[in-house]
Amino acid sequence: MIEFPDNFAWGVATASYQVEGAVDADGRRPSIWDTFSHTPGKIVADEPGDIANDHYHRYAEDARLLGSLNLGYYRFSVAWPRVQPDGRGPINPAGLDFYKRLIDALLENGVQPWVTLYHWDLPQVLEDAGGWPARDTAYRFADYAVATFEGLQDRVRHWTTLNEPWCSAFLGYAAGTHAPGVTDPAASIRAVHHLLLGHGLAARAIRASHPDAEVGITLNPQPIQPATDSDADRDAARRIDGLRNRLFLDPLYYGKYPADVLDDLAGVVDDSYIQGDDEKTIAAPLDFLGINYYSPAVVRQGADSVSDAVYVGSGDVESVAQGLPVSDMGWEIAPDSLHELLVRLYRDYPGVPLYVTENGIALQDRLGADGTVEDPERIAYLDGHLRAVHRAIADGVDLRGYFVWTFADNWEWSFGTSKRFGLVYLDYPTQRRIPKSSARWFADVARRNALDT
Ligand code: FCB
Repeated sequence: MIEFPDNFAWGVATASYQVEGAVDADGRRPSIWDTFSHTPGKIVADEPGDIANDHYHRYAEDARLLGSLNLGYYRFSVAWPRVQPDGRGPINPAGLDFYKRLIDALLENGVQPWVTLYHWDLPQVLEDAGGWPARDTAYRFADYAVATFEGLQDRVRHWTTLNEPWCSAFLGYAAGTHAPGVTDPAASIRAVHHLLLGHGLAARAIRASHPDAEVGITLNPQPIQPATDSDADRDAARRIDGLRNRLFLDPLYYGKYPADVLDDLAGVVDDSYIQGDDEKTIAAPLDFLGINYYSPAVVRQGADSVSDAVYVGSGDVESVAQGLPVSDMGWEIAPDSLHELLVRLYRDYPGVPLYVTENGIALQDRLGADGTVEDPERIAYLDGHLRAVHRAIADGVDLRGYFVWTFADNWEWSFGTSKRFGLVYLDYPTQRRIPKSSARWFADVARRNALDT
């Protein structure tokens, strides 16, 4: 048996806009994702997230199902435009009440809530006022975060400020494949800074009022390797590692942006957006770092203008497929790279406990004629990644939990409902939840706190 440490946290993760539906219930106003998903051509089949899993109305059933899977934790996010529909000013009690009901239902079923304050659904009114490229948004986020924390802190111990600010900044403002769909490299770098500043302001304020709260952030760091040993490819890997990983980790841990990355970005944007003690503010003490991992990248110096739009300021870089098996997203499956990532992070950024806050696989799951969904490939994926996690722990990494993305199939951003990541099958026409074979497998692993050898 491969046993995990005592008190290892087992959970699943979701995000508000991907599951809740009920987009205009009880005073909620539009987020950037409502606007984006209603813009023709942005989402597969032009399918918006208006209904998704109807979790807003079915949370009690979902909480019972989560409890039946022996999960210690449910990581979910709060929709800012539900709790503070105008992005500033008073809290909407009806919006906050939804999360109180959800949390109470979780606790009744023996599941601890783990709250993410921002998983990408910025109030549209704040985007209209400049969005994340505008400094004021950092202060708006901190106000919202503190008010939401105050409203829910009596029932929640673990708080994540932001989910994957890399995606918010670079997919949202450089590649434009995520809301708000902007393609402006300079804006994306300012967005990085204001997201991190918002995190720092919020984390400091929460800590000051409640020292017992556990406050952290979730990033999506990626292992980056050069395609060859050539100087050009190694420098390409340095640039992408800088943009994807160090640009976030260095200020969070050490209160300083990496000088080589700022140099790389000098032609994109001047650094006047970094003011006063911002970098110190960003380096608020972290109680944990959340890591979302799906696949690694191998990069090389490319030919002219092959660079991906997310690789802002990196010159001509391209990623190279390794010929590994891929998920239904086309993402390469590489569990050993998760081990490598965890060991590297804990070596270069020691002292803060780590959690894998997302890991999982999209597959073309089918509801069988007998009413079951068999997904042995997902079991193999999770098993392989959990073994990598266990090896990292054995190598000394202080890793305290693992969350599967995701609980039930849901609305996967620009892919709509065409991608299925869940442990539970979602039959959209009926909204029936049908646990897949991987759900039973994961429930068993969580109950035993161990894998078979
Ligand atoms: C992560 C996101 C999550 C989901 C998974 C597949 O980047 O945090 O919402 O989209 O990828």
